[in-house]
Amino acid sequence: MKTNYKAQPKFFEDLEATPPIFGVAILNKEKLLEIVREAGAITDLTLLKNEVVALKRVIAFPKSDREGVLNIDSNGDTISLRKDVLISELDQILEAQTIGRAKYYLKRLENGVQETKTNKVSDINLRRWKEYDEIITDSLWVLDKRDTSGAHLGWYWGNFIPQIPHQMILRYTKKKEWVLDTFVGSGTTLIECRRLGRNGIGVELNPDVAGEAKKLVDKEVNKYDVTTEVIPADSRTVDMEKALGEYGIKQVQLLIMHPPYYDIIDFSKDRRDLSQAGSVEEFLKMFGDVVENTTPFLEKGRYFALVIGDKYSKGEWIPLGFRCMDEVLKRGYSLKSIIVKNFEETRGKRNQKELWRYRALVGGFYVFKHEYVMLFKKR
Ligand SMILES: C[S@@+](CC[C@H](N)C(=O)[O-])C[C@H]1O[C@@H](n2cnc3c(N)ncnc32)[C@H](O)[C@@H]1O
Repeated sequence: MKTNYKAQPKFFEDLEATPPIFGVAILNKEKLLEIVREAGAITDLTLLKNEVVALKRVIAFPKSDREGVLNIDSNGDTISLRKDVLISELDQILEAQTIGRAKYYLKRLENGVQETKTNKVSDINLRRWKEYDEIITDSLWVLDKRDTSGAHLGWYWGNFIPQIPHQMILRYTKKKEWVLDTFVGSGTTLIECRRLGRNGIGVELNPDVAGEAKKLVDKEVNKYDVTTEVIPADSRTVDMEKALGEYGIKQVQLLIMHPPYYDIIDFSKDRRDLSQAGSVEEFLKMFGDVVENTTPFLEKGRYFALVIGDKYSKGEWIPLGFRCMDEVLKRGYSLKSIIVKNFEETRGKRNQKELWRYRALVGGFYVFKHEYVMLFKKR
């Protein structure tokens, strides 16, 4: 690395005074690697840190770039890195107490720049894992704001918050893979598929709802040119082989189910609708039939996300979530996670908040504030 912008003692103060830097730095990959490798070859900790300070200065103050780190014209090979993450990685090197530690962090940075490491089921670059802070890895989700951007209108009574399919798709599929939602309702999953460049098929029993969903999904920009299709059918009996065959595929890579929570919302008067089941037992049987009908079409080792809540009946808590979980576990899956997600106030309950609190106090129960995202892996 040339030292024509050698660190001055004042640099540290200047940089500390810099406000947090957000956004993406588009860098000349080869130049960046050259600088990192050259710094990694230095055997004196102070000199090594001087080189890192110089690099940090370029990232923080692009006008000071005399090395061409930001010159992306001379070499087409570029890399986009989140500035705040890169700066914190450089800071970690500057805080190192030993030359060994500093070199270790530099090597890690070098690997992160030159290699992409993903697992089998997602595109998340594990070498740059710090850049993915939108991905939730805790089992308690408190999401208070529904994403209403683009085609997500939130018009459908009983839809789920778009962040649920968003998280599942990012975490458990790669671009251009296939997602199947057997209770697609207003098409939330398919809208997310379009945004994230995944193909999606949704099955919906109610033909009017299916038609509305199709129109809505088609309004979402399809910048990755993926297929998103709504099939008006009963998920217990729909011919999946034929449906997938139309697109030349035999299996999907992610299964999402957000069934009615038994009779909490009447989705239709159709006897085939899970919300019309005559009892909890019948509901579980119908749900089990959907799992059975679709499981052969999920690739082995891939994920199934079930979104479900519990209910009260005649003063008794009915653990629908866990009962459904048992139905899934009977059918060749292992349980990977149970996420507890807060329940935003429904339109119906919002006005009656006081009444529910009073009823809860009188009846000795608790007002529902959570539902589950249960995650299974096909064996
Ligand atoms: C909880 S909603 C799903 C909402 C969806 N996640 C959304 O964001 O709009 C359940 C949906 O399942 C549909 N449904 C009920 N029984 C069905 C069945 N046997 N096959 C397919 N869809 C069914 C209902 O019509 C309803 O639209």
